Parts: sequence; structure tokens; C-alpha cells
Amino acid sequence: MLYIGIDLGTSAVKLLLMDEAGEIKNIVSRTYPIEFPRPGWSQQNPEDWREAVLEGIPELLAGHDAHSVAGIGAGGQMHGLVVLDRDDRVIRPAILWNDGRTAREVDYLNGEVGKEKLSRLTANIAFAGFTAPKLLWMRENEPELFARIDKIMLPKDYINYVLTGVHCSDYSDASGMLLLDVEHRRWSGEMLALCGLREEQMPRLFESYETVGTLLPEIADRLGLPRTVQVAAGAGDNAAAAVGTGTVGEGGCNISLGTSGTIFISSRRFGVDPNNALHAFAHADGGYHLMGCMLSAASCNKWWQEEILGAADYESEQAKITPEKLGRNHVYFLPYLMGERSPINDTNARGTFLGLTMDTGRADMLQAVLEGVAFAIRDSFEVARGLGLDLRSSKLCGGGARSGLWRTILSNVLNIPLELPACEQGPGMGGAMLAMVSCGAYPTVEDACRRIVRVADTVRPDPETAARYEARYQDFRKIYPACRELFSQLAEREEM
Ligand code: XUL
Repeated sequence: MLYIGIDLGTSAVKLLLMDEAGEIKNIVSRTYPIEFPRPGWSQQNPEDWREAVLEGIPELLAGHDAHSVAGIGAGGQMHGLVVLDRDDRVIRPAILWNDGRTAREVDYLNGEVGKEKLSRLTANIAFAGFTAPKLLWMRENEPELFARIDKIMLPKDYINYVLTGVHCSDYSDASGMLLLDVEHRRWSGEMLALCGLREEQMPRLFESYETVGTLLPEIADRLGLPRTVQVAAGAGDNAAAAVGTGTVGEGGCNISLGTSGTIFISSRRFGVDPNNALHAFAHADGGYHLMGCMLSAASCNKWWQEEILGAADYESEQAKITPEKLGRNHVYFLPYLMGERSPINDTNARGTFLGLTMDTGRADMLQAVLEGVAFAIRDSFEVARGLGLDLRSSKLCGGGARSGLWRTILSNVLNIPLELPACEQGPGMGGAMLAMVSCGAYPTVEDACRRIVRVADTVRPDPETAARYEARYQDFRKIYPACRELFSQLAEREEM
């Protein structure tokens, strides 16, 4: 049988067709626009996602036996607020995971409601990208739109709704709404009340590997698929990527260098970071995970290459950064182009170059960008280590992982080996694997991982390079605290 995995990302949707042995038959990608209506705001039109998926699937199936497709599973960008009215019309563009407009609501939640209470109810505190602060923002700033809300859902849930007509979500993705009692896997009545919501507006909850329904007849016909195709609940893209890289069960670690940069630590048991710097979420394998998320990772590289250099050839730019240069750059870069989430939780933070001299060239600045992202991931890695987690290696996925240079930098900055799965399509592969479990091809997610995921290559740190990076990281750590106050003053002025 065949399975379709959907990776509903921020810059594009990637669709993959896979058999149950994990062999990829085809991959199709469709991009869609993202709007930045103000600095630090970001939104997308859910209808663009829908069209990209509905047009992409027939293209994915071309030349393959569509009648052998048994299931579909999606991993989607997390936290985005999708709201529909009574007639299932999208009320406003989705406010995305990297949108920073809710600074006030986050202050209210963390300050007045209190971090201790939020953590008790949801296992997490408020971050600007989370869904609950966005609902509070909408209630305050768009009351007439807020009053029309009939259904609330997350990005991949909207796709599942289009495919099946079932208003559903899964525990991993719902964890990032700040409305779920993560430990007990149910909505928090208190949090819903606090945001002025009713439980009927919320999606029905499933495990990621459970079937939510079959394709609506008109959708099946449009896509050229059997009406019996089952749709799995799917997962947030990080949990799906963790499945796709085999990061399941106890103590696995996965780093994703996508638009965002994340470090994901799986666990069978529920646990909370006492400082809530790492998110405590449900996992798609039925367990839990801790996660640090930086808002701009591969997107910093894309910004530098495409917006600033205007150069589409990433490889030839990176070829100028030869191995002896690693750990020897005197330029630093703070990668906070959209503010930052983990671990500093500061919507006012901004991208910053430091240490430029007359001999600084474009290769040094590109190197600083790649290193700055690696250092910022190390910040979350240090938080995890501080919790006593013994992270001796990690899987690596996401578009940024295609760069051999960036892999080497990251491995040396973290001073651990990084394992590259044979398939780097983390969330899409995870989505297809969740569909396999939901259709009964494998009894559990862990079992599917054992049978399907293979490591293709391992990047190991070099002791001398890692030592040079250790010294540079200790300097990097001092830069944000020195700028914090200024970032906040500049943000106040931006608002005036
Ligand atoms: C995770 C997060 C991002 C998005 C990216 O908390 O916000 O990784 O899921 O798609």
C-alpha cells in the first residue's frame, strides 16, 4: 500500500508518497506567500494551503497507482490560529507561530494570570507565538471577528478538516495552544474560560496515529483517490519530524534546521522544565517531549542569501568558508530577525551583527549567520543539559541540514555527533508513518520507526574546532544580555 505525508511548512507544503517499507516514490512541493504586515507580524491565508495541497496531491500521484493509497498524515507548522465561522469560511488570515504581535497578551498571561498557574494548567507559560495569546489579541483588537468564531484549529487541522470534514486536532499540536492540559491530554476548562472560549469551538482531540475519518467523497473524486483513504490526526511539524527521524520513546534528540530551529527531546514520561524555558508538549508516539524553538534558523540564511546578497547559489557562497576558518571568525550575529522564543522569550530582540572591521567580507558575514543560528540552538541545548538530560548525540533534519558546512559548524558548536537520517523529509515522512500506523500497517509509532528509519551519515566534532567554538560561544552568550535593554527601548519607539 502507499501513504501520503504532508509537511505543511511556512514557506511551502511538501507532499511525499511512500510505501510501507519507507521507500519514497515521489515528492512534490508548492510554495505560498507569507505576509509581514508590520515588523514582527506574520500571517498566511489558509486557503492558499488548501489549494496547494489539493493541487499538489494529483501531481504527486501522477504515474503512480492512486488506488493503492491507504492513508494520509500531516505534520504542520504549529501554533498558527485558524478561525472559521458558522459557514466554514476562514474569518481572517492565520496568525503564524513566528508572529510577535501579542507581547501585551503574553505579559498579561505570564504576569497577571501568572506563570505558576499557567504551568500548572497547561505545563507551559505564554510565548508570543502560542495560540491562546493570539485569541486574546483578537478578542481585544478585532472583537466583531472574534464574535464570529465557530471553530478554532491549527494549520494542519484545517487541511484535515478540508479532507474529511472532521474538526479535529492531535495532542502534540494542541499542546502548543496553551489551552491543553498536556499531562492529562484534555482541554483545560479554566484556560478556555480565561480566553472567552467554549469547548464546542475547539477541535476533537486524537492521538497523532489515530484515524480521524475518511476522505469526503467530493475531495476523493477531485484528488483521484479512493473514498476509503483514511486520514490520520497527524502532528505538529516538530513531533512529526521526530517520528520521521526515529526520535521516539525515551531520551531521543532531534534538531531541525528549518525556517525555525528546534531541539526536541522525547520521553515516555511527562515532565516540565521548572523554568518553562523549554516547552513541555505531548509527542506523536503517545508520550511527551521537551522542546526549544528558535524563530529564525534556515530563514536567517535565506534572508542573508536572497534579500541581502541577492544570490541564489547557496553552495558557491558557502564554498568560500574553508575548514581552517571554522571557529576563527571575529564577526558575531544574533539571529533574532523575528524576535526570539527559546530560551530568551523576547519579542523585542532583533537581528544584530557585531564585530565588523574593514577587512570583514561577505563570507565572514555568512559564516557569522550560520554560526549565530548554531549558537542560538546551543542556548536551548544548554537549558536541556541544565535539567540533567544527558544528550550525547542528536538526529538532524530540515532544509538547513542539506548544507555540509552548516552540519559541521553545528556539530562542533554542540560538540556532539549529529546523525543524518537517509530521508531528510522529517515532517512529511513522519506524517506518512503516522498514516501507516493509523491504517494498521504497524502496531505502534516506535515499531514503524524501528522498521523504516535509517541513519545515512554521522557528522562528528573535531576536538580543536570544538574548543575554538566553545570559546566563541562563551562570548556569543554575552551579546544578547548587553543588548536587551536597548532592544526594548527601540521597540517602544517602533510602536510610537
Ligand atoms: C515550534 C514552532 C515552529 C513551527 C515551525 O514550537 O513554533 O517550529 O512549528 O513550523
